[in-house]
Amino acid sequence: MNFELTEEHKAVRDAARDFAQNVLKKEVIERDRDQRFPTEEIKQLAELGFMGMMVDPKYGGSGMDTLSYVLAMEEISKVDASTSVCMSVNNSLVCWGLEKYGSEEQKMKYLVDLASGKKIGAFCLSEPEAGSDATSQQTTAIDKGDHYLLNGTKNWITNGSTASTYLVIAQTDVEKGHKGINAFIIERGMEGFIVGAKEDKLGIRGSDTHTLMFNDVKVPKENRIGEDGFGFTFAMKVLSGGRIGIAAQALGIAGGGFELALAYSKVRKAFGKEIYKHQAIAFKLADMATEIEAAKLLVYRSAIDKDMGRNYDQSSAMAKLYASKVAMEQTVEAVQIHGGYGFVKEYHVERLMRDAKITQIYEGTSEVQKIVISRNILRD
Ligand code: CAA
Repeated sequence: MNFELTEEHKAVRDAARDFAQNVLKKEVIERDRDQRFPTEEIKQLAELGFMGMMVDPKYGGSGMDTLSYVLAMEEISKVDASTSVCMSVNNSLVCWGLEKYGSEEQKMKYLVDLASGKKIGAFCLSEPEAGSDATSQQTTAIDKGDHYLLNGTKNWITNGSTASTYLVIAQTDVEKGHKGINAFIIERGMEGFIVGAKEDKLGIRGSDTHTLMFNDVKVPKENRIGEDGFGFTFAMKVLSGGRIGIAAQALGIAGGGFELALAYSKVRKAFGKEIYKHQAIAFKLADMATEIEAAKLLVYRSAIDKDMGRNYDQSSAMAKLYASKVAMEQTVEAVQIHGGYGFVKEYHVERLMRDAKITQIYEGTSEVQKIVISRNILRD
């Protein structure tokens, strides 16, 4: 087993690092404070080919592997998790879902613009009463012959007001339970589709999280993804890959906190010497580095599982579960090492600590990851 990255992987990582440190960092504090979406920054990410990293170039993507995507997510998340969640939803939920399961017509009509970053996508599964319990969909799409009539409300939708293409999960046949669920492509501007209130969040404040309402939206039949009844499996498959992206985000947030804490410990003096020379701080840094390395191995392993064509339901859930825990715990440590300075915005670590929390919640809470892992390890 060789743990070395290839030259190509290093180049992707370095390009992402350069972009994060030199472009994203400039106004990240202001975007967080003002809840401002990174519009210009996302355009530049698209120019780098980072909005459709794993999509075949014939559909407007960059044709890279999942490990490249993870490396880019990690570096960008060290600085700005608000930008990286937009990138992650577009790459691993929307683009991957369409490329893997969409029809050729759907790919030409929607995927090309999404993968090239001309447009942004959103994934709409969560509802007021269906978060972890994703089978309890209340949004309905009733078959009306040549179209479906979509009604319902979706919650916590990342890219809610900035997207133009939405993958919406809805119940088409209540009697059939999760086998009566379908996924649909909805366009911004369809009659009856309303973008509701923006959430005022603890973290990832630059990202655009909204409630969406669908009131008698006429959805053309050709906008259904896959065979009738495929929607729940579609959502689960897409989320397995999405969890690799969020695990990479968590890894990046933890790594960002660590890098800042390490640098600070070398310049800040207390009791007559730089604080890293005190064992209390050196041991904290040793623990942080070890935890982050362990998370990294899980995250990269899951990406490689996907690239090798192996099942990654379990490894992605493990990666997300562990990396998000590390992100939360180690950003608290990063604030602690900074002392009072860690508590003010200028030093960045308080933002990373706030951003870390969502990685334990979205794309399945930590408890959901444990359901997935336990079912996999307990299977006959
Ligand atoms: N691949 C294929 N099929 C799968 C699957 C997978 N990975 N996981 C489950 N299924 C199938 C099961 O085999 C089962 O089918 P059968 O009945 O035919 O055997 C069916 O789906 C139902 O599965 P379960 O019985 O396991 O369903 P459950 O109700 O117990 O729930 C769950 C399982 C894992 C908790 C699931 O509901 C889940 O993942 N919930 C969390 C949802 C989530 O992650 N939401 C995040 C929203 S998106 C987001 O956050 C994006 C963003 O903005 C950042």
